[in-house]
Amino acid sequence: MINKKIEINYTEYQSVNELLDKDRQLLQLTEENLKNSYSPYSQFKVSSLVQLDDDINIMGTNQENAAYPSGLCAERVAIFSAKSLHPSKNVEKVVVVTEQGNEFPFSPCGSCRQVLMEYEMNQKKPIQVLLKSGNSKIWKFNSVRDLLPFAFEAEEILKKE
Ligand code: THU
Repeated sequence: MINKKIEINYTEYQSVNELLDKDRQLLQLTEENLKNSYSPYSQFKVSSLVQLDDDINIMGTNQENAAYPSGLCAERVAIFSAKSLHPSKNVEKVVVVTEQGNEFPFSPCGSCRQVLMEYEMNQKKPIQVLLKSGNSKIWKFNSVRDLLPFAFEAEEILKKE
């Protein structure tokens, strides 16, 4: 038997003033888009911005439905849209903000992590993730892998084809 340990890394910023101008602007754009969240059931607005190569920004918000499971998180709305419009572009960064929040940001749900992770693995280049909720501190992850160390990896399945 062997006990193992893994480490993840992220940076915590006390406020937007500590961020690089570029990241502060991206956060602001993402926050401005919160108004487009369609979340009448949860009243929990989420907005996400996906930055692709060549500074292309694609945004998405959470979209809910009376048939609850038919809704989709903001991160997946944004990344599926980005990769549908620009399938060959790499994803540089994913910004996620929620309207509500206190000290620490909410972080993406497991399904969104898995989706982001597959694009990161495909492009063989880390995707940065920037999170902020309401007036919370800001967290920055340099790779989706830090959010999902034990991701389900499709590579082994694809090899068998
Ligand atoms: N939601 C997101 O948009 N992203 C997440 O990572 C977690 C949750 C949405 C789904 C639903 O519309 C609302 O937040 C409440 O769960």
